[in-house]
Amino acid sequence: MEKLNLESPYIRLLSETAAEENAHAYLIGGYVRDLLLKRDHKKDIDVVVEGSGIDFARAVAGRMGKEVKVHYFKNFGTAMIHHNEVEIEFVGARKESYRSDSRKPIVENGSIQEDQERRDFTINALAIRLHPFTGEITDPFNGIEDLNRKIIRTPLEPDKTYSDDPLRMMRAIRFASQLGFSIEKGSFEAICRNAERIKIVSAERITDELNKIILSEKPSVGFKLLFDSGLLAVIFPEMTALAGVEVIQGKAHKDNFLHTLQVLDNICKNTDDLWLRWSAILHDIAKPATKRFEKEHGWTFHGHEDKGARMVPAIFKRLKLPLNEKMKYVQKLVMLHLRPIVLSKETVTDSAVRRLLFEAGDDIDDLMTLCEADITSKNREKVKKYLANFEVVRQKLVELEEKDRLRNWQPPVTGTDIMETFGIAPGKEIGTIKTAIREAILDGEIPNTFDEAYAFMLNQGNALGLQPIKILKSSIQDTEKA
Ligand code: CTP
Repeated sequence: MEKLNLESPYIRLLSETAAEENAHAYLIGGYVRDLLLKRDHKKDIDVVVEGSGIDFARAVAGRMGKEVKVHYFKNFGTAMIHHNEVEIEFVGARKESYRSDSRKPIVENGSIQEDQERRDFTINALAIRLHPFTGEITDPFNGIEDLNRKIIRTPLEPDKTYSDDPLRMMRAIRFASQLGFSIEKGSFEAICRNAERIKIVSAERITDELNKIILSEKPSVGFKLLFDSGLLAVIFPEMTALAGVEVIQGKAHKDNFLHTLQVLDNICKNTDDLWLRWSAILHDIAKPATKRFEKEHGWTFHGHEDKGARMVPAIFKRLKLPLNEKMKYVQKLVMLHLRPIVLSKETVTDSAVRRLLFEAGDDIDDLMTLCEADITSKNREKVKKYLANFEVVRQKLVELEEKDRLRNWQPPVTGTDIMETFGIAPGKEIGTIKTAIREAILDGEIPNTFDEAYAFMLNQGNALGLQPIKILKSSIQDTEKA
């Protein structure tokens, strides 16, 4: 039997409390699994008690001091203590059964072994008794062997385990992606059989797991399993629609599902940001909807960036992802994802780079990261050429930003300035003049300063038949900039 040497003040405290209370309490779940895997130390400690988890939590908190509060979740018979960064969750050992039409468990008290068998995977069912604390691991389902062989397997017959909580199908795939494990054959077949049952699980819980897959080192592992099992078709059909290759007149387009996964894996080497990773997932999402075969050009996906950006809100809403600035950020990157590529293929003009800088604002670096990840050609020479061109675009971006300050651009001449100068009320001339100023700056006709923009504005007004009634002095903005 495997033994562990544990030196944690929390574990010592739990063990001392178990001794004092003569409680049959065990460490269980992810904490034990990650200890054995020597993964980053876990901040969540799960404790299971034969008897009342709530009473044991109270006793633990009592030893920790007056300021420590226990949070109770009476309906579930669980309690939780937050202390510094650590969360300790207490639960009474249970045996559970579920009705087939609902996830709500019927819970009864049980033994540690019964509790272990109702858990999701053998690697999550390992327990360490807290008193007497010998470091010995209780492993009735050969979880340690599965850890060593890197296998995800259910303690019971898989159909039963997945039917008790269908989210576990997502969890199996999440652990496979996160830990680099494989799912045991029988278990994977059960996921394929039960995929439709994921529908009874809330979108929040599904998306939690999906995000963990996306945050793993190589998310394509998880997405391929989601695809092969049939789960992806249920939870994210827009993504399954990317799969496949069509051939007309001997011309094939690439498999956009596999391409997307490659872009995602590529970007993961350069960012841990969930939303930038989501942008990679969604960058080509409208390719199926915009796909055409044109005799002269072959396969085209005109406007897929624009349509893709418009598809983002519905996808975010259904997956219960936040409908806030994170969503707008993803939309923006999807919308702009072709722009640096186009730039890098043509001679890079200042004006084109200025426009990109203006539209991307502070997200320009993330956009460049996305576009570099999007280069998935197998032709090494091509890849080298694109990356070199991107370097030119990046340099130009830095130079122009220093010169013109176009990130978070504010018009140097405001609508109020225009109205005061010509003595006019709000109206469409103001918009026309402001657009003309912006375009002139972006085209490099005039510098991004008040004086030049003001002089330009006077000419524009003139062309529209407007006469100045007053000339304004250089604005505060310019003084600040100087
Ligand atoms: N568990 C389960 N079925 C679920 C969720 C959780 O059987 N659908 C059990 C597993 O024993 C799991 C433990 O509850 O190890 C704790 O769950 P959770 O904190 O969600 O996951 P961890 O395994 O701790 O992993 P992570 O922290 O990486 O999510």
